[in-house]
Amino acid sequence: MKTAAFVLAATAVSKVSAQTFSDCNPMFNTTCTPNTALGTWHDWNFTDSTIADTKIWNTTGGTPDYTDVGAQFTIGGKGDSPTLESNFYIFFGQVSVIMKAAPGVGIVSSVVLESDDLDEIDWEWLGGNNTSVETNYFGKGNTTSYDRAIYYDVDDVTGTLHNYSITWTQEKLEWLVDDKVLRTLKYEDALNGENYPQTPMKLKIGIWAGGDPDSNSNGTVEWAGGVVDYHKTPFTMTMERVYVADFSTGSTYTYGDQTGSYESIKIAEGNSTIAQRLAKPHGAEAHYKALPKWAQATIAAGSVAVFAIALVAFVFCCIKSRRAGRRERAAADALWEKEMQELAEYKRNSPHVGSGGAHGVKEYF
Ligand SMILES: *[C@@H]1O[C@H](CO)[C@@H](O)[C@H](O)[C@H]1NC(C)=O
Ligand SMILES: *[C@@H]1O[C@H](CO)[C@@H](O)[C@H](O)[C@H]1NC(C)=O
Ligand SMILES: *[C@@H]1O[C@H](CO)[C@@H](O)[C@H](O)[C@H]1NC(C)=O
Ligand SMILES: *[C@@H]1O[C@H](CO)[C@@H](O)[C@H](O)[C@H]1NC(C)=O
Ligand SMILES: *[C@@H]1O[C@H](CO)[C@@H](O)[C@H](O)[C@H]1NC(C)=O
Ligand SMILES: *[C@@H]1O[C@H](CO)[C@@H](O)[C@H](O)[C@H]1NC(C)=O
Ligand SMILES: *[C@@H]1O[C@H](CO)[C@@H](O)[C@H](O)[C@H]1NC(C)=O
Ligand SMILES: *[C@@H]1O[C@H](CO)[C@@H](O)[C@H](O)[C@H]1NC(C)=O
Ligand SMILES: *[C@@H]1O[C@H](CO)[C@@H](O)[C@H](O)[C@H]1NC(C)=O
Repeated sequence: MKTAAFVLAATAVSKVSAQTFSDCNPMFNTTCTPNTALGTWHDWNFTDSTIADTKIWNTTGGTPDYTDVGAQFTIGGKGDSPTLESNFYIFFGQVSVIMKAAPGVGIVSSVVLESDDLDEIDWEWLGGNNTSVETNYFGKGNTTSYDRAIYYDVDDVTGTLHNYSITWTQEKLEWLVDDKVLRTLKYEDALNGENYPQTPMKLKIGIWAGGDPDSNSNGTVEWAGGVVDYHKTPFTMTMERVYVADFSTGSTYTYGDQTGSYESIKIAEGNSTIAQRLAKPHGAEAHYKALPKWAQATIAAGSVAVFAIALVAFVFCCIKSRRAGRRERAAADALWEKEMQELAEYKRNSPHVGSGGAHGVKEYF
């Protein structure tokens, strides 16, 4: 891997990834709800077809496909932009993603950390360039552009798995590829700390068509590398693993004043709801992992119908062969009901899972 850096001149183009809006910006509003902390670390291994827990990750713009090579984020046509957005926040920490960016001119793969007052730390891959990654940051939504966006050479970003990491502390922010530090931003080098990312951040992982002129400005299309050719779809980003460590421990993070300074952040003690959930896996993910491999594979491949038929056969066979009495029959029915609820949950979480058994099913978590 070469490490030549390309510093963009002050142009409009590096603005495009900045978040310009947040539901409640604590710089202007003193009544925002506290940020739910991660407060721990977790390594999501998507190669075992792990489906992102919907209590931990929100999905927008479409759902990833969960396969044995990882979570796949695909643009299959106009308007697709599958994205996972964490319901947790980290207050300094490390994020490492093992991934392949999506190919395709105008297609943007992105891994972004962002806070409610618009601090931001970015990785972005432009699908038309197989040998480049963009690093960027924003402080308090300041999009004035000097040298914030810096591009680095990385071999075969679309075809080879690389480890893209961020380590983020009060003193400095580092972007690393395959354990090698590409870029370091010290607190004092970001406008004397004023523009240094320093407030609790959530994580967003997704793909979007920056090169679609119907939904983006010309500047954005230009930055994205040109106009998307939808005849060449699908464009897929693959996320093999996502490791996130929160360097703070607590249950929530709250802005104590309107300065946007890390010193103003109040940490509430205790384990967060997310940390508790991660410590005690339950719900559909745990049930899914407890299923035999053939059943997992079938569900991951989206063949709920096949799985349901096999399950019917299994239940039927066992009841018959054991000449089940009423009680066993009830137990078998309960098993059936439970499996169907799980399937309904997985159907909701996976776009490829077909219809079946989803009627009148309650929320499983
Ligand atoms: C502050 O946030 C609350 C809750 O999100 C919202 O109802 C209110 O309109 C916001 N006020 C301002 C001035 O933005
Ligand atoms: C991820 O899951 C796969 C499939 O279960 C397994 O082979 C692999 O060892 C796991 N990787 C890690 C780092 O846990
Ligand atoms: C995730 O979605 C839920 C339900 O729609 C919403 O209440 C919550 O604010 C979302 N979380 C984030 C971090 O956007
Ligand atoms: C890819 O990006 C690098 C900067 O990282 C640049 O030097 C190179 O010219 C770009 N290649 C193409 C084909 O645009
Ligand atoms: C935004 O950043 C620019 C460049 O560092 C700086 O000159 C400007 O003062 C900043 N604006 C605010 C409001 O902090
Ligand atoms: C990306 O680069 C690798 C290594 O040079 C090459 O094998 C691969 O075909 C390239 N992929 C694309 C989409 O250009
Ligand atoms: C990814 O890189 C980070 C930073 O060098 C390192 O701490 C981490 O162990 C790496 N992850 C893997 C799976 O190699
Ligand atoms: C954007 O680009 C198109 C095609 O090059 C051009 O026709 C249009 O005038 C441009 N729009 C703006 C606002 O520059
Ligand atoms: C937080 O979780 C840890 C480990 O699961 C446990 O030992 C500890 O008692 C919990 N603390 C609180 C305040 O619940």
